[in-house]
Amino acid sequence: MKKIMAANWKMYKTGPEAAATVGELAKLLGGRAPDGREIVVFAPATALERTAEAIKAVAGAEAGAENMYPAEEGAFTGEISPLMIKACGARWVLTGHSERRHILGESDAFVGQKTAFALAQGLRVMLCVGETLEEREAGGLQEVLERQLREGLKEIPADTAPENLAVAYEPVWAIGTGKTAGPEDILEAHSLCRSLLGALLGEKAAQTAILYGGSVKPANAGSILALDNVDGVLVGGASLKAESFLQIINAH
Ligand code: PGA
Repeated sequence: MKKIMAANWKMYKTGPEAAATVGELAKLLGGRAPDGREIVVFAPATALERTAEAIKAVAGAEAGAENMYPAEEGAFTGEISPLMIKACGARWVLTGHSERRHILGESDAFVGQKTAFALAQGLRVMLCVGETLEEREAGGLQEVLERQLREGLKEIPADTAPENLAVAYEPVWAIGTGKTAGPEDILEAHSLCRSLLGALLGEKAAQTAILYGGSVKPANAGSILALDNVDGVLVGGASLKAESFLQIINAH
């Protein structure tokens, strides 16, 4: 399985800024993702079309949306649909990012509806899961991952191809805080995710990418990517500059 090197730009970058960063990255990469790696850039909705257009200059890279509403169209003011995402030229969508769960109040069930609908519409989905500090300290890691994965994948189409689904384990306490989970924490959580996916997806679990996210930087990406069951990284802050994201993309 190729490792997935994903950028999450959150609420940063206008369309022209996004296109400029992708253009710079394309030059630095020489027009292609490194062997054995694929690149995804999750961009704000207003920059999605420009990002998707610019990313065509990198073989093995795709653009994604950070959010969507689970309907083709309708009276959902402020939302965007999978059809709109695809029309922008993007292939991916993030679901269940902790900022949407904890700041925007998205429930496990709603995250599950989005995940299922996006897959049914032919998008590739990266479902984010992860525990808060309180949940971790109360010994709730397994229970949280079990619930978020079970609810998140509840209604996905039976014929979902494993390459269209990825899971990102992002401990909430490590996102944007500079605190990276230690190797033991990552190994434990990723192996838990793999076995929980096995129970939910059967043999497809082995081919479903599990990414780590939370304060990934050029200095720690190589050692994180070397851990068992880590099939990529989802990078926020350190993906905003092309040079820094490039170092992570090439990290070993
Ligand atoms: P961070 O964000 O790399 O800035 O911690 C990761 C994420 O939220 O996906």
